[in-house]
Amino acid sequence: MNPIPGLRAPYPGSRPRRQRSQDFARRLVAENTVTVDALIQPYFVIEGEGTQAVDAMPGVSRLAINHLVEQAAHAHEQGVQMIVLFPVTDDAEKSDDCASAWDPEGLAARAIRAVKAAVPTLGVMTDVALDPYSPHGHDGLMDESGYIINDETVDALVRQALCQADAGADVLGPSDMMDGRVGAIREALEAADHRNVMIMSYAAKYASSFYGPFKEAVGAAKAFGKSDKKSYQMDPANGDEALHEVAADLQEGADMVMVKPGLPYLDIVRRVKETFAVPTFAYHVSGEYAMLKAASSNGWIDERSCVMETLMSFRRAGCDGVLTYYATDVARWLREG
Ligand code: PBG
Repeated sequence: MNPIPGLRAPYPGSRPRRQRSQDFARRLVAENTVTVDALIQPYFVIEGEGTQAVDAMPGVSRLAINHLVEQAAHAHEQGVQMIVLFPVTDDAEKSDDCASAWDPEGLAARAIRAVKAAVPTLGVMTDVALDPYSPHGHDGLMDESGYIINDETVDALVRQALCQADAGADVLGPSDMMDGRVGAIREALEAADHRNVMIMSYAAKYASSFYGPFKEAVGAAKAFGKSDKKSYQMDPANGDEALHEVAADLQEGADMVMVKPGLPYLDIVRRVKETFAVPTFAYHVSGEYAMLKAASSNGWIDERSCVMETLMSFRRAGCDGVLTYYATDVARWLREG
């Protein structure tokens, strides 16, 4: 008797390699696929003109709004269905109350409007967090002791979220990890008649060192110094806690949830998908991108096949979609075949 339910009993002529022997057969039995529909392309946006390379993320640049629109349109032509915008704020725009975060003429609002005007069928997602607007680079408001205060931050996040929705954002991405922010944002969206604006909450976001290159990209690295985000982002030691975070965000009205970072946290993705069966995303973050770039540019690994294998791993773990700096490259590779 076979002790494991569903396990095929060995039989005469059992050859698992049979269905791996030809390309058509491998395709026929493939359990997962990577499609461009499931990839979200992040962009860093700057004031003024031109583009600026990000040293720790070869191939990624900060883009002035006209370049952003051009690249977003190109990505959409390649099949990318959604982008996410990260504004890089000038120091003069940063303040302790983070008021630039809800300025309807601020960089984020202008960038959203420009993309939606030029490429209306491309989904635009935002980042709801105060780090681009605070002098210290934290995601929330700080009290005198240096603690990031929850409830006052949530009020500010609601204002930021409404500003983004007013500008035409399709999906809001609260990435701040304050308690109760999803419910507060959802309530405000309903009251303001933004009924179809979606929330993809960064539900299980870990205090990770893999965000390093992102901090350089948004110019938060210097301001940030030696402090960390451990008083609000999750401890990498914890898995059960992620399920409680996801449950809370879903109960508060999140449409989709995210786990972040990606590859080192695929066990969390699997547990979230199995427990809640909701649209589940992962963020293949800047440090993960940098590792692939560094190794492949040295000729130590093959970039394209390692990226495709990475994205397949996300799908196999249970991800419906992935935020990745490789989204547009993958779209091109899939077209090239
Ligand atoms: C901040 C934010 C971060 C990232 C996305 N939004 C950095 C952080 O939390 O410190 C990281 C993304 C990446 O590393 O690619 N709200």
